[in-house]
Amino acid sequence: MNRVYDVIVVGAGQSGLATGYYLRQAGLSFLILEAGDEAVGSWPYFYDSLSLNSTARYSSLPGLPFPGDPDHYPVRDEAVAYLRRYATHFDLPIVTNTPVDRIERKGQLFHLATANNRHYVARAVVAATGFFGRPHMPEIPGQSRYRGQVLHAADYRRPEPFQGQRIIIVGGANGAVQIGTELAQVARVTLAARHPIRYLPQRVLGRDIHFWLTLSGLDRTQWLNEKSPPVYDTGAYRAAIATGRPEQKPMFSHFTEQGVVWGDGRHEAVDTVIFATGYQPNLPYLTGLGALDSRGRALQRKGASTSVPGLYYVGLMRQRSVASATLRGVGSDAKMVVNSLRHYCHTQQVARLRRAREMSLARQVRIWNARGNELVGLINLITLALQQQLATGKPAAPKLLGEALGRSLLVGAGFLGVGHAAALYSRS
Ligand SMILES: Cc1cc2nc3c(=O)[nH]c(=O)nc-3n(C[C@H](O)[C@H](O)[C@H](O)COP(=O)(O)OP(=O)(O)OC[C@H]3O[C@@H](n4cnc5c(N)ncnc54)[C@H](O)[C@@H]3O)c2cc1C
Ligand SMILES: NC(=O)c1ccc[n+]([C@@H]2O[C@H](COP(=O)([O-])OP(=O)(O)OC[C@H]3O[C@@H](n4cnc5c(N)ncnc54)[C@H](OP(=O)(O)O)[C@@H]3O)[C@@H](O)[C@H]2O)c1
Repeated sequence: MNRVYDVIVVGAGQSGLATGYYLRQAGLSFLILEAGDEAVGSWPYFYDSLSLNSTARYSSLPGLPFPGDPDHYPVRDEAVAYLRRYATHFDLPIVTNTPVDRIERKGQLFHLATANNRHYVARAVVAATGFFGRPHMPEIPGQSRYRGQVLHAADYRRPEPFQGQRIIIVGGANGAVQIGTELAQVARVTLAARHPIRYLPQRVLGRDIHFWLTLSGLDRTQWLNEKSPPVYDTGAYRAAIATGRPEQKPMFSHFTEQGVVWGDGRHEAVDTVIFATGYQPNLPYLTGLGALDSRGRALQRKGASTSVPGLYYVGLMRQRSVASATLRGVGSDAKMVVNSLRHYCHTQQVARLRRAREMSLARQVRIWNARGNELVGLINLITLALQQQLATGKPAAPKLLGEALGRSLLVGAGFLGVGHAAALYSRS
Protein backbone atom coordinates (compact mmCIF):
# COMPACT_ATOMS: atom_id res chain seq x y z
CA MET A 1 0.00 0.00 0.00
CA ASN A 2 1.42 3.42 -0.98
CA ARG A 3 1.44 6.18 1.61
CA VAL A 4 -1.09 8.89 0.72
CA TYR A 5 0.50 12.38 0.97
CA ASP A 6 -1.58 15.52 1.29
CA VAL A 7 0.44 17.10 -1.51
CA ILE A 8 3.07 16.07 -4.05
CA VAL A 9 5.04 18.85 -5.72
CA VAL A 10 6.52 18.05 -9.13
CA GLY A 11 9.82 19.89 -9.69
CA ALA A 12 12.42 21.16 -7.21
CA GLY A 13 13.49 24.43 -8.79
CA GLN A 14 12.78 27.75 -7.06
CA SER A 15 9.01 27.22 -7.57
CA GLY A 16 8.97 23.78 -5.95
CA LEU A 17 11.25 24.95 -3.13
CA ALA A 18 9.15 28.02 -2.30
CA THR A 19 6.04 25.81 -2.32
CA GLY A 20 7.79 23.35 0.02
CA TYR A 21 8.61 26.19 2.41
CA TYR A 22 4.93 27.14 2.77
CA LEU A 23 3.67 23.52 2.82
CA ARG A 24 5.96 22.90 5.81
CA GLN A 25 4.48 25.96 7.55
CA ALA A 26 0.94 24.75 6.77
CA GLY A 27 1.65 21.40 8.44
CA LEU A 28 0.59 19.37 5.40
CA SER A 29 2.34 16.09 4.58
CA PHE A 30 4.23 16.43 1.29
CA LEU A 31 7.01 15.29 -0.99
CA ILE A 32 8.86 17.08 -3.80
CA LEU A 33 9.74 14.89 -6.79
CA GLU A 34 12.64 16.12 -8.93
CA ALA A 35 13.80 14.73 -12.29
CA GLY A 36 17.42 15.91 -11.90
CA ASP A 37 20.01 14.88 -9.34
CA GLU A 38 19.88 18.19 -7.44
CA ALA A 39 17.27 20.68 -6.28
CA VAL A 40 18.58 23.69 -8.21
CA GLY A 41 16.10 23.89 -11.10
CA SER A 42 17.26 24.98 -14.55
CA TRP A 43 19.79 27.56 -13.38
CA PRO A 44 22.92 25.43 -14.06
CA TYR A 45 21.84 25.17 -17.73
CA PHE A 46 21.61 28.91 -18.38
CA TYR A 47 24.50 30.44 -20.38
CA ASP A 48 27.80 31.00 -18.57
CA SER A 49 27.80 34.82 -18.60
CA LEU A 50 24.24 35.21 -17.27
CA SER A 51 23.76 37.47 -14.30
CA LEU A 52 20.48 38.15 -12.53
CA ASN A 53 18.44 41.07 -13.80
CA SER A 54 17.63 42.10 -10.22
CA THR A 55 19.96 42.85 -7.31
CA ALA A 56 20.34 40.31 -4.48
CA ARG A 57 17.90 42.42 -2.44
CA TYR A 58 15.18 41.57 -5.00
CA SER A 59 16.17 37.96 -5.67
CA SER A 60 15.26 36.07 -2.50
CA LEU A 61 12.87 33.21 -1.90
CA PRO A 62 10.78 33.30 1.31
CA GLY A 63 12.60 32.85 4.60
CA LEU A 64 16.22 33.07 3.41
CA PRO A 65 17.83 36.28 2.09
CA PHE A 66 20.04 36.00 -1.00
CA PRO A 67 23.60 36.26 0.37
CA GLY A 68 26.19 38.97 -0.31
CA ASP A 69 25.89 42.70 -0.85
CA PRO A 70 22.13 43.35 -1.26
CA ASP A 71 22.92 45.78 -4.10
CA HIS A 72 25.04 43.46 -6.25
CA TYR A 73 23.77 41.60 -9.32
CA PRO A 74 24.44 37.90 -8.60
CA VAL A 75 25.82 35.69 -11.37
CA ARG A 76 24.26 32.39 -12.45
CA ASP A 77 26.37 30.19 -10.17
CA GLU A 78 25.46 32.27 -7.12
CA ALA A 79 21.80 31.54 -7.89
CA VAL A 80 22.62 27.81 -8.14
CA ALA A 81 24.47 27.90 -4.79
CA TYR A 82 21.60 29.83 -3.18
CA LEU A 83 18.97 27.28 -4.29
CA ARG A 84 21.18 24.39 -3.12
CA ARG A 85 21.48 26.06 0.27
CA TYR A 86 17.76 26.81 0.43
CA ALA A 87 16.79 23.12 0.03
CA THR A 88 19.20 21.97 2.76
CA HIS A 89 18.53 24.91 5.10
CA PHE A 90 14.82 24.03 5.30
CA ASP A 91 15.50 20.28 5.03
CA LEU A 92 12.77 19.89 2.44
CA PRO A 93 11.64 16.32 1.60
CA ILE A 94 12.99 16.08 -1.96
CA VAL A 95 13.30 12.85 -3.96
CA THR A 96 15.81 13.40 -6.79
CA ASN A 97 16.31 11.41 -10.03
CA THR A 98 12.55 10.89 -10.15
CA PRO A 99 10.95 12.31 -13.30
CA VAL A 100 7.16 12.20 -13.16
CA ASP A 101 5.90 10.61 -16.38
CA ARG A 102 2.16 10.55 -15.93
CA ILE A 103 -0.52 11.57 -13.45
CA GLU A 104 -3.94 9.99 -13.20
CA ARG A 105 -6.85 10.95 -10.99
CA LYS A 106 -8.69 8.00 -9.46
CA GLY A 107 -11.58 9.02 -7.23
CA GLN A 108 -10.28 11.77 -4.99
CA LEU A 109 -6.62 10.75 -5.31
CA PHE A 110 -3.80 11.52 -7.74
CA HIS A 111 -1.57 8.63 -8.79
CA LEU A 112 1.86 9.67 -10.05
CA ALA A 113 3.93 7.26 -12.15
CA THR A 114 7.62 8.04 -12.58
CA ALA A 115 10.11 7.14 -15.32
CA ASN A 116 12.01 5.00 -12.79
CA ASN A 117 8.89 2.89 -12.14
CA ARG A 118 7.91 4.39 -8.82
CA HIS A 119 4.37 5.16 -7.85
CA TYR A 120 3.21 7.92 -5.51
CA VAL A 121 -0.26 8.85 -4.27
CA ALA A 122 -1.47 12.27 -3.11
CA ARG A 123 -4.67 14.14 -2.46
CA ALA A 124 -3.32 17.22 -4.32
CA VAL A 125 -0.55 17.97 -6.80
CA VAL A 126 1.47 21.13 -7.47
CA ALA A 127 3.05 21.33 -10.93
CA ALA A 128 6.25 23.36 -10.53
CA THR A 129 8.26 22.29 -13.55
CA GLY A 130 8.98 25.72 -15.05
CA PHE A 131 9.37 26.31 -18.77
CA PHE A 132 13.06 25.84 -19.60
CA GLY A 133 12.40 22.18 -20.51
CA ARG A 134 10.12 23.28 -23.37
CA PRO A 135 11.76 25.88 -25.64
CA HIS A 136 9.42 27.62 -28.09
CA MET A 137 10.54 26.98 -31.69
CA PRO A 138 8.31 28.81 -34.18
CA GLU A 139 7.86 27.34 -37.67
CA ILE A 140 9.33 29.77 -40.21
CA PRO A 141 8.57 29.11 -43.91
CA GLY A 142 11.28 27.04 -45.65
CA GLN A 143 12.95 26.01 -42.39
CA SER A 144 13.12 22.31 -43.24
CA ARG A 145 15.24 23.13 -46.34
CA TYR A 146 17.85 25.15 -44.43
CA ARG A 147 21.14 23.25 -44.14
CA GLY A 148 22.90 25.49 -41.62
CA GLN A 149 22.86 25.09 -37.85
CA VAL A 150 19.59 25.82 -36.00
CA LEU A 151 19.64 26.19 -32.22
CA HIS A 152 17.44 27.51 -29.48
CA ALA A 153 18.81 29.99 -26.91
CA ALA A 154 18.33 27.20 -24.34
CA ASP A 155 21.23 25.36 -26.05
CA TYR A 156 23.60 28.34 -25.98
CA ARG A 157 26.41 28.34 -23.38
CA ARG A 158 29.37 30.49 -24.50
CA PRO A 159 30.60 32.36 -27.61
CA GLU A 160 33.83 30.46 -28.47
CA PRO A 161 32.32 27.75 -30.75
CA PHE A 162 30.79 30.48 -32.97
CA GLN A 163 34.03 32.35 -33.74
CA GLY A 164 33.92 34.03 -37.20
CA GLN A 165 30.41 32.84 -38.11
CA ARG A 166 27.51 34.71 -39.71
CA ILE A 167 24.71 34.39 -37.17
CA ILE A 168 21.07 35.46 -37.01
CA ILE A 169 19.28 35.55 -33.68
CA VAL A 170 15.48 35.51 -33.86
CA GLY A 171 13.79 37.52 -31.09
CA GLY A 172 14.05 40.94 -29.54
CA ALA A 173 13.82 40.33 -25.80
CA ASN A 174 16.43 39.77 -23.05
CA GLY A 175 17.76 36.43 -24.33
CA ALA A 176 18.22 37.66 -27.91
CA VAL A 177 19.91 40.94 -26.93
CA GLN A 178 22.25 39.43 -24.32
CA ILE A 179 23.34 36.48 -26.44
CA GLY A 180 23.55 38.69 -29.53
CA THR A 181 25.78 41.26 -27.84
CA GLU A 182 28.06 38.55 -26.49
CA LEU A 183 28.33 36.73 -29.84
CA ALA A 184 28.96 40.04 -31.66
CA GLN A 185 32.40 40.05 -29.97
CA VAL A 186 33.44 36.99 -32.02
CA ALA A 187 31.01 36.82 -34.97
CA ARG A 188 28.84 38.91 -37.33
CA VAL A 189 25.43 38.94 -35.70
CA THR A 190 21.97 40.24 -36.67
CA LEU A 191 18.97 40.31 -34.38
CA ALA A 192 15.79 39.58 -36.35
CA ALA A 193 12.78 40.81 -34.41
CA ARG A 194 9.09 41.30 -35.11
CA HIS A 195 9.17 44.71 -33.44
CA PRO A 196 11.70 47.37 -32.42
CA ILE A 197 13.46 46.41 -29.20
CA ARG A 198 11.84 47.86 -26.07
CA TYR A 199 14.24 48.87 -23.28
CA LEU A 200 13.79 49.28 -19.55
CA PRO A 201 16.51 51.16 -17.66
CA GLN A 202 18.23 48.76 -15.27
CA ARG A 203 18.90 51.61 -12.84
CA VAL A 204 16.92 54.80 -12.19
CA LEU A 205 18.25 57.61 -9.94
CA GLY A 206 20.90 55.28 -8.55
CA ARG A 207 18.53 52.46 -7.68
CA ASP A 208 17.80 49.12 -9.35
CA ILE A 209 14.57 49.24 -11.40
CA HIS A 210 12.99 46.67 -9.07
CA PHE A 211 13.03 49.23 -6.27
CA TRP A 212 10.68 51.38 -8.40
CA LEU A 213 8.61 48.46 -9.70
CA THR A 214 8.04 47.28 -6.14
CA LEU A 215 7.36 50.77 -4.81
CA SER A 216 4.81 51.51 -7.54
CA GLY A 217 3.13 48.10 -7.18
CA LEU A 218 3.69 47.44 -10.91
CA ASP A 219 5.64 44.27 -10.10
CA ARG A 220 2.49 42.68 -8.67
CA THR A 221 0.40 43.34 -11.79
CA GLN A 222 0.22 42.10 -15.37
CA TRP A 223 1.47 45.49 -16.59
CA LEU A 224 2.94 44.05 -19.82
CA ASN A 225 -0.28 42.31 -20.78
CA GLU A 226 0.69 39.76 -23.43
CA LYS A 227 3.82 41.60 -24.59
CA SER A 228 7.26 40.02 -24.14
CA PRO A 229 9.33 41.67 -21.40
CA PRO A 230 11.43 44.74 -22.28
CA VAL A 231 15.23 44.45 -22.25
CA TYR A 232 16.86 45.43 -18.95
CA ASP A 233 19.64 47.80 -19.99
CA THR A 234 22.29 49.89 -18.25
CA GLY A 235 22.76 51.60 -21.62
CA ALA A 236 25.38 49.10 -22.82
CA TYR A 237 23.01 47.07 -25.05
CA ARG A 238 21.47 50.11 -26.70
CA ALA A 239 24.98 51.46 -27.38
CA ALA A 240 26.19 48.12 -28.82
CA ILE A 241 23.17 47.88 -31.13
CA ALA A 242 23.62 51.52 -32.21
CA THR A 243 27.11 50.58 -33.47
CA GLY A 244 25.75 47.53 -35.31
CA ARG A 245 27.33 44.94 -33.01
CA PRO A 246 24.88 43.27 -33.11
CA GLU A 247 22.86 44.82 -35.91
CA GLN A 248 19.06 44.80 -35.67
CA LYS A 249 16.60 44.17 -38.50
CA PRO A 250 12.92 43.34 -38.97
CA MET A 251 12.22 39.60 -39.08
CA PHE A 252 13.26 37.78 -42.30
CA SER A 253 10.49 36.28 -44.42
CA HIS A 254 11.76 32.74 -45.04
CA PHE A 255 14.66 30.30 -45.03
CA THR A 256 16.51 29.03 -48.08
CA GLU A 257 18.99 26.14 -48.25
CA GLN A 258 21.92 28.44 -47.45
CA GLY A 259 20.35 31.19 -45.40
CA VAL A 260 17.45 33.60 -45.21
CA VAL A 261 15.56 36.12 -47.35
CA TRP A 262 15.00 39.54 -45.75
CA GLY A 263 11.86 41.65 -46.15
CA ASP A 264 13.47 43.67 -49.00
CA GLY A 265 14.00 40.42 -50.97
CA ARG A 266 17.77 40.25 -50.34
CA HIS A 267 19.15 36.75 -49.80
CA GLU A 268 21.95 36.15 -47.32
CA ALA A 269 23.95 33.04 -46.47
CA VAL A 270 23.99 32.24 -42.75
CA ASP A 271 25.98 29.71 -40.69
CA THR A 272 23.78 29.59 -37.59
CA VAL A 273 20.28 30.71 -36.64
CA ILE A 274 19.53 30.90 -32.91
CA PHE A 275 15.91 31.12 -31.84
CA ALA A 276 15.70 33.29 -28.72
CA THR A 277 11.94 33.02 -28.98
CA GLY A 278 11.12 32.13 -25.40
CA TYR A 279 9.54 29.10 -23.76
CA GLN A 280 6.26 27.33 -23.10
CA PRO A 281 4.87 25.65 -19.98
CA ASN A 282 6.59 22.29 -19.45
CA LEU A 283 3.67 20.07 -18.37
CA PRO A 284 3.64 16.91 -20.57
CA TYR A 285 2.93 14.67 -17.56
CA LEU A 286 -0.49 16.31 -17.17
CA THR A 287 -1.68 15.21 -20.62
CA GLY A 288 -4.75 13.03 -20.17
CA LEU A 289 -5.96 14.80 -17.02
CA GLY A 290 -7.96 17.41 -18.96
CA ALA A 291 -5.87 20.13 -17.33
CA LEU A 292 -4.36 21.72 -20.45
CA ASP A 293 -5.68 23.61 -23.47
CA SER A 294 -4.93 22.55 -27.06
CA ARG A 295 -1.57 24.41 -26.91
CA GLY A 296 -0.45 22.68 -23.74
CA ARG A 297 -1.11 25.68 -21.49
CA ALA A 298 -2.57 25.20 -18.04
CA LEU A 299 -6.26 26.00 -17.56
CA GLN A 300 -5.85 27.82 -14.28
CA ARG A 301 -6.76 30.82 -12.23
CA LYS A 302 -4.37 32.18 -9.61
CA GLY A 303 -2.53 28.86 -9.62
CA ALA A 304 -5.58 26.60 -9.15
CA SER A 305 -6.63 24.37 -12.04
CA THR A 306 -10.06 25.38 -13.31
CA SER A 307 -10.76 21.87 -14.65
CA VAL A 308 -9.12 19.43 -12.21
CA PRO A 309 -9.88 19.86 -8.48
CA GLY A 310 -6.75 19.42 -6.36
CA LEU A 311 -4.31 20.38 -9.13
CA TYR A 312 -2.25 23.55 -8.63
CA TYR A 313 0.58 25.43 -10.35
CA VAL A 314 3.49 27.53 -9.15
CA GLY A 315 5.98 29.34 -11.41
CA LEU A 316 3.97 29.64 -14.61
CA MET A 317 4.95 32.68 -16.64
CA ARG A 318 2.59 35.51 -15.55
CA GLN A 319 0.56 33.13 -13.43
CA ARG A 320 -0.53 36.06 -11.30
CA SER A 321 1.85 38.89 -12.19
CA VAL A 322 4.95 39.75 -14.24
CA ALA A 323 7.02 38.56 -11.26
CA SER A 324 5.40 35.10 -11.00
CA ALA A 325 8.23 33.26 -12.76
CA THR A 326 11.07 35.05 -10.98
CA LEU A 327 13.05 34.50 -7.79
CA ARG A 328 11.58 37.65 -6.24
CA GLY A 329 7.96 36.91 -7.15
CA VAL A 330 7.48 33.17 -6.87
CA GLY A 331 7.28 33.22 -3.05
CA SER A 332 4.05 35.20 -2.82
CA ASP A 333 2.43 33.02 -5.51
CA ALA A 334 3.49 29.87 -3.64
CA LYS A 335 2.03 31.30 -0.42
CA MET A 336 -1.31 31.94 -2.10
CA VAL A 337 -1.39 28.47 -3.67
CA VAL A 338 -0.58 26.78 -0.35
CA ASN A 339 -3.39 28.75 1.31
CA SER A 340 -5.83 27.37 -1.29
CA LEU A 341 -4.32 23.91 -0.85
CA ARG A 342 -4.79 24.02 2.91
CA HIS A 343 -8.43 24.88 2.38
CA TYR A 344 -8.80 22.15 -0.28
CA CYS A 345 -7.18 19.47 1.95
CA HIS A 346 -9.36 20.52 4.90
CA THR A 347 -12.55 20.32 2.80
CA GLN A 348 -11.45 16.92 1.52
CA GLN A 349 -10.84 15.68 5.06
CA VAL A 350 -14.30 16.82 6.23
CA ALA A 351 -15.85 15.05 3.22
CA ARG A 352 -13.85 11.89 4.01
CA LEU A 353 -15.07 11.86 7.62
CA ARG A 354 -18.63 12.41 6.48
CA ARG A 355 -18.35 9.55 3.99
CA ALA A 356 -16.93 7.28 6.71
CA ARG A 357 -19.84 8.15 9.04
CA GLU A 358 -22.36 7.59 6.25
CA MET A 359 -20.80 4.22 5.47
CA SER A 360 -20.87 3.08 9.10
CA LEU A 361 -24.54 4.15 9.44
CA ALA A 362 -25.43 2.32 6.21
CA ARG A 363 -23.72 -0.81 7.60
CA GLN A 364 -25.74 -0.55 10.83
CA VAL A 365 -28.95 -0.18 8.84
CA ARG A 366 -28.07 -3.28 6.78
CA ILE A 367 -27.44 -5.29 9.94
CA TRP A 368 -30.73 -4.18 11.50
CA ASN A 369 -32.59 -4.89 8.28
CA ALA A 370 -31.39 -8.46 8.56
CA ARG A 371 -32.43 -8.49 12.25
CA GLY A 372 -35.86 -7.19 11.18
CA ASN A 373 -36.30 -10.14 8.83
CA GLU A 374 -35.29 -12.52 11.62
CA LEU A 375 -37.82 -10.83 13.93
CA VAL A 376 -40.62 -11.39 11.41
CA GLY A 377 -39.59 -15.07 11.26
CA LEU A 378 -39.71 -15.29 15.05
CA ILE A 379 -43.15 -13.64 15.26
CA ASN A 380 -44.39 -16.18 12.71
CA LEU A 381 -43.00 -18.94 14.90
CA ILE A 382 -44.71 -17.55 18.03
CA THR A 383 -48.00 -17.20 16.14
CA LEU A 384 -47.69 -20.81 14.99
CA ALA A 385 -46.99 -21.97 18.56
CA LEU A 386 -50.00 -20.05 19.93
CA GLN A 387 -52.27 -21.42 17.18
CA GLN A 388 -51.02 -24.89 18.04
CA GLN A 389 -51.87 -24.25 21.74
CA LEU A 390 -55.38 -23.02 20.86
CA ALA A 391 -55.99 -25.97 18.53
CA THR A 392 -54.71 -28.69 20.85
CA GLY A 393 -55.40 -27.11 24.25
CA LYS A 394 -51.82 -28.01 25.19
CA PRO A 395 -49.59 -25.14 26.40
CA ALA A 396 -46.81 -24.28 23.95
CA ALA A 397 -43.31 -24.69 25.29
CA PRO A 398 -43.05 -21.76 27.80
CA LYS A 399 -39.25 -21.68 27.35
CA LEU A 400 -39.62 -21.11 23.61
CA LEU A 401 -42.19 -18.33 24.15
CA GLY A 402 -40.04 -16.61 26.79
CA GLU A 403 -36.91 -16.73 24.55
CA ALA A 404 -38.81 -15.48 21.47
CA LEU A 405 -40.40 -12.61 23.36
CA GLY A 406 -37.07 -11.58 24.93
CA ARG A 407 -35.35 -11.54 21.51
CA SER A 408 -38.20 -9.54 19.94
CA LEU A 409 -37.85 -6.86 22.63
CA LEU A 410 -34.07 -6.74 22.08
CA VAL A 411 -34.38 -6.32 18.31
CA GLY A 412 -37.11 -3.69 18.81
CA ALA A 413 -34.81 -1.74 21.14
CA GLY A 414 -32.07 -2.02 18.54
CA PHE A 415 -34.37 -0.47 15.93
CA LEU A 416 -35.15 2.37 18.28
CA GLY A 417 -31.38 2.90 18.83
CA VAL A 418 -30.57 3.02 15.10
CA GLY A 419 -33.52 5.33 14.47
CA HIS A 420 -32.28 7.64 17.21
CA ALA A 421 -28.69 7.60 15.82
CA ALA A 422 -29.96 8.32 12.31
CA ALA A 423 -32.02 11.25 13.62
CA LEU A 424 -28.97 12.66 15.46
CA TYR A 425 -26.81 12.17 12.37
CA SER A 426 -29.20 13.91 10.00
CA ARG A 427 -29.34 16.84 12.41
CA SER A 428 -25.47 17.09 12.62
C1 LIG B 1 17.89 32.43 -19.56
C2 LIG B 1 17.03 32.76 -18.38
C3 LIG B 1 17.42 33.74 -17.48
C4 LIG B 1 16.63 34.06 -16.39
N1 LIG B 1 17.05 35.04 -15.52
C5 LIG B 1 16.29 35.33 -14.44
C6 LIG B 1 16.73 36.34 -13.53
O1 LIG B 1 17.73 37.00 -13.72
N2 LIG B 1 16.00 36.56 -12.40
C7 LIG B 1 14.86 35.85 -12.15
O2 LIG B 1 14.26 36.04 -11.10
N3 LIG B 1 14.40 34.92 -13.04
C8 LIG B 1 15.09 34.65 -14.17
N4 LIG B 1 14.64 33.71 -15.05
C9 LIG B 1 13.27 33.16 -14.88
C10 LIG B 1 13.11 32.05 -13.82
O3 LIG B 1 13.55 32.55 -12.57
C11 LIG B 1 13.87 30.77 -14.16
O4 LIG B 1 13.42 30.26 -15.37
C12 LIG B 1 13.71 29.67 -13.11
O5 LIG B 1 14.52 28.60 -13.49
C13 LIG B 1 12.25 29.19 -12.95
O6 LIG B 1 12.20 28.32 -11.84
P1 LIG B 1 11.17 27.09 -11.74
O7 LIG B 1 11.43 26.41 -10.48
O8 LIG B 1 9.82 27.58 -12.03
O9 LIG B 1 11.57 26.18 -13.00
P2 LIG B 1 12.94 25.42 -13.24
O10 LIG B 1 14.08 26.16 -12.67
O11 LIG B 1 12.95 25.12 -14.69
O12 LIG B 1 12.79 24.10 -12.37
C14 LIG B 1 11.88 23.10 -12.73
C15 LIG B 1 12.38 21.80 -12.13
O13 LIG B 1 11.44 20.79 -12.44
C16 LIG B 1 12.12 19.61 -12.80
N5 LIG B 1 11.25 18.83 -13.65
C17 LIG B 1 10.84 19.10 -14.91
N6 LIG B 1 10.00 18.15 -15.35
C18 LIG B 1 9.87 17.25 -14.34
C19 LIG B 1 9.12 16.06 -14.19
N7 LIG B 1 8.35 15.58 -15.15
N8 LIG B 1 9.22 15.38 -13.01
C20 LIG B 1 10.00 15.85 -12.01
N9 LIG B 1 10.72 16.97 -12.12
C21 LIG B 1 10.65 17.68 -13.26
C22 LIG B 1 13.37 20.11 -13.51
O14 LIG B 1 14.39 19.13 -13.48
C23 LIG B 1 13.71 21.35 -12.70
O15 LIG B 1 14.58 21.07 -11.65
C24 LIG B 1 15.42 33.38 -16.18
C25 LIG B 1 15.03 32.39 -17.09
C26 LIG B 1 15.82 32.08 -18.17
C27 LIG B 1 15.39 31.01 -19.13
N1 LIG C 1 18.70 37.40 -16.28
C1 LIG C 1 18.54 37.88 -17.45
O1 LIG C 1 19.04 38.92 -17.70
C2 LIG C 1 17.76 37.14 -18.50
C3 LIG C 1 18.34 36.89 -19.74
C4 LIG C 1 17.60 36.17 -20.67
C5 LIG C 1 16.32 35.75 -20.39
N2 LIG C 1 15.79 36.02 -19.18
C6 LIG C 1 14.44 35.55 -18.85
O2 LIG C 1 14.22 34.33 -19.51
C7 LIG C 1 12.89 34.24 -19.97
C8 LIG C 1 12.88 34.03 -21.48
O3 LIG C 1 13.48 35.16 -22.15
P1 LIG C 1 13.69 35.16 -23.71
O4 LIG C 1 14.25 36.45 -24.09
O5 LIG C 1 14.43 33.92 -24.10
O6 LIG C 1 12.19 34.96 -24.28
P2 LIG C 1 10.91 35.94 -24.20
O7 LIG C 1 11.08 36.97 -23.15
O8 LIG C 1 9.73 35.07 -24.16
O9 LIG C 1 10.94 36.70 -25.61
C9 LIG C 1 10.77 35.97 -26.80
C10 LIG C 1 11.14 36.84 -27.98
O10 LIG C 1 10.97 36.06 -29.16
C11 LIG C 1 10.10 36.73 -30.04
N3 LIG C 1 9.33 35.77 -30.82
C12 LIG C 1 8.48 34.81 -30.37
N4 LIG C 1 7.96 34.11 -31.41
C13 LIG C 1 8.49 34.65 -32.53
C14 LIG C 1 8.34 34.38 -33.90
N5 LIG C 1 7.51 33.42 -34.34
N6 LIG C 1 9.03 35.11 -34.79
C15 LIG C 1 9.84 36.09 -34.37
N7 LIG C 1 10.03 36.41 -33.08
C16 LIG C 1 9.36 35.71 -32.16
C17 LIG C 1 9.22 37.59 -29.16
O11 LIG C 1 8.68 38.61 -29.93
P3 LIG C 1 7.23 39.26 -29.59
O12 LIG C 1 7.50 40.22 -28.48
O13 LIG C 1 6.86 39.91 -30.87
O14 LIG C 1 6.33 38.14 -29.20
C18 LIG C 1 10.25 38.07 -28.13
O15 LIG C 1 11.00 39.14 -28.66
C19 LIG C 1 12.22 35.54 -19.54
O16 LIG C 1 11.61 35.31 -18.31
C20 LIG C 1 13.39 36.49 -19.35
O17 LIG C 1 13.12 37.51 -18.41
C21 LIG C 1 16.48 36.72 -18.24
